[in-house]
Amino acid sequence: MSYLLGIDLGTTGVKVLLVDKNGCLVDSLTREYPLLTPRPGWAEQNPADWKENTLIALREIRERNKEKEIAAIGLTGQMHGAVLLDGKGEVIRPAILWCDQRTDRESEEIHEIFGYEKFLSITGNPALTGFTAPKILWVKKNEPENFKKISRILLPKDYLRFILTGDFFSDVSDASGTSLFEVGKRNWSQEIIKGLQLKSEWLPEVKESVEVTGRISREVAMITGIKQGTPVVAGAGDQAASAFGCGIIEEGIISVTLGTSGVIFASTDSMKREEKGRLHSFCHAVRGKWHLMGVMLSAGGSFRWLRDTLGGEEKEIGKKEGIDPYQVLTRQAKEVPAGSEGVIFLPYLAGERTPHQDPYARGVFFGISLKTTKAHLIRSVLEGIAFGLNDSLKLMKEMGVKIEEVRIVGGGARSVFWKEIISSVFELPIYTLKAEEGSSYGAALIAGVGSGIFEDEKEAAKVVKIKDKTQPVEKYVKAYRKIYPFFGELYHSLKKEFRQISNIVEV
Ligand code: XUL
Repeated sequence: MSYLLGIDLGTTGVKVLLVDKNGCLVDSLTREYPLLTPRPGWAEQNPADWKENTLIALREIRERNKEKEIAAIGLTGQMHGAVLLDGKGEVIRPAILWCDQRTDRESEEIHEIFGYEKFLSITGNPALTGFTAPKILWVKKNEPENFKKISRILLPKDYLRFILTGDFFSDVSDASGTSLFEVGKRNWSQEIIKGLQLKSEWLPEVKESVEVTGRISREVAMITGIKQGTPVVAGAGDQAASAFGCGIIEEGIISVTLGTSGVIFASTDSMKREEKGRLHSFCHAVRGKWHLMGVMLSAGGSFRWLRDTLGGEEKEIGKKEGIDPYQVLTRQAKEVPAGSEGVIFLPYLAGERTPHQDPYARGVFFGISLKTTKAHLIRSVLEGIAFGLNDSLKLMKEMGVKIEEVRIVGGGARSVFWKEIISSVFELPIYTLKAEEGSSYGAALIAGVGSGIFEDEKEAAKVVKIKDKTQPVEKYVKAYRKIYPFFGELYHSLKKEFRQISNIVEV
């Protein structure tokens, strides 16, 4: 039997996963590496750490599954990061990541150069702080000696491809998040590249996600035990790959990925653009399809923050009872009514992308009274995250995107109570999938299409199976209809103050 290998170069670690041709998980493992924050708001990683840990992970998974023949490898990973290489293929400086907020000024400059509307009409999206092009301009301005050395600009997973196969390629979905790509035409925009005084030869050739771009090199085969010549497909950005792994390949079904970030993803049959660019409009990993996507920067991340700052007691209880502290927290949240008796949480701990595109926004607990307990705070955090996701869903509905089914994956999908909250805010049933592996699973399925194990994307999506269904809870629905409008209002009331305070304190 042939097997497929997915590699997901995430922000906390690299995950490698093996599936069989029926889409059943065979084995997976993750190796972590550090996130560097040299200054508040900055986020970097050393590509050497990615390389080292990926090669070790590949060797481990190969050793554990020696007899299994790997038909193809799919790459996915964190999007938007800038990996800069010199003429010898050496890394010039640490990679600047998707969650780095240093390039506010450069993003504005890009819009000034082309005009906001024109830039949006070419690339399909605003040049957001986390995207790639503003990072290159930042290096040009602040590290001219590094800028002079640039011979290649790669996205994180495409750097891994270079390590594994020696080739320079990217795929249409990941390239869509660079601010240098003409999403409608599925190719680099020469106009933008020229206008920013960059060189098009610095950028890799772009392929459709399922296309084979190269083969495992002799050197990597010797280190990892994976057969020399094993094909590697173009792969996809982590969100397109995750959606692929949820079977989101046609209009009608949307996915919610509830990890550190929170993402709502809809496949579209043609390129669609939200008028103000509040939803990302990118190429999908499916040939001939595009997608719309809303990204919350701190979804599960807000819940983790709550656990780590206020959940000391719950961690202890969890240890005693042998359960996850998150379960202890959600158990308490259930004790208070839907709407948390007026306590509203704004989940903007790291600024926000959709819908506000505001790096200065911050988290807020609103409506605290003497009656407020920890349970109220916990429930309001779960609800605030659900409201944030609903902001993206609302924009999609307003654009006329068909929404017939919602599928959920990610750590948050493990809590039935949280899913009930989300389902009630959306007023739609939510389906949980059997495979919870996310992006790496999608990357493996994409490799399955590239290697001919699946005839096409539709065949690949057939292996995705539903586990269970969560329905809206009527009394929650009633409460959320009343509370949700305040969630949006609150942000707008505080927008100015978020910006002003950022001039006083470094946040
Ligand atoms: C997508 C995005 C994140 C990162 C990190 O636009 O920024 O999904 O790719 O996971």
